[in-house]
Amino acid sequence: MSLKDAALSVRENAYAPYSNFKVGAAIRSGSGVVYSGCNVENVAYPEGTCAEAGAIAAMVAAGERDLTEVYVVASSPQPVPPCGGCRQKLAEFGRADVKVTLATADGKEQETTIGQLLPGAFGAAHMEGT
Ligand code: THU
Repeated sequence: MSLKDAALSVRENAYAPYSNFKVGAAIRSGSGVVYSGCNVENVAYPEGTCAEAGAIAAMVAAGERDLTEVYVVASSPQPVPPCGGCRQKLAEFGRADVKVTLATADGKEQETTIGQLLPGAFGAAHMEGT
């Protein structure tokens, strides 16, 4: 299945009764497997867990720690940029040149990279020699 189809499909399962904003994310891992996630909200923390975080959690739970491509889709008029926390999570498991496609449910796409989403990212190298 393509990343786009996986993201569109998992988006249907999003649990977003507070925002009414359904998001789907799919990532390809180093082994080529596609993992997907949707946003899951709850009454105490209505922002809940983002779709990207869900897809990353599925990849890590399966024993993989390397992502090579990302696709995020939401039912917005314009492609939705990932939140700050998700940018840091993407940067944890993907190189700066990893392609990230942001899309709308009706097919509008915007291509970017993890490095463009999180320039100047804090990384393990910054703690070397401390
Ligand atoms: N959301 C995501 O899942 N991913 C994003 O990139 C942006 C926002 C979700 C979180 C929350 O459930 C809803 O969208 C509104 O913020």
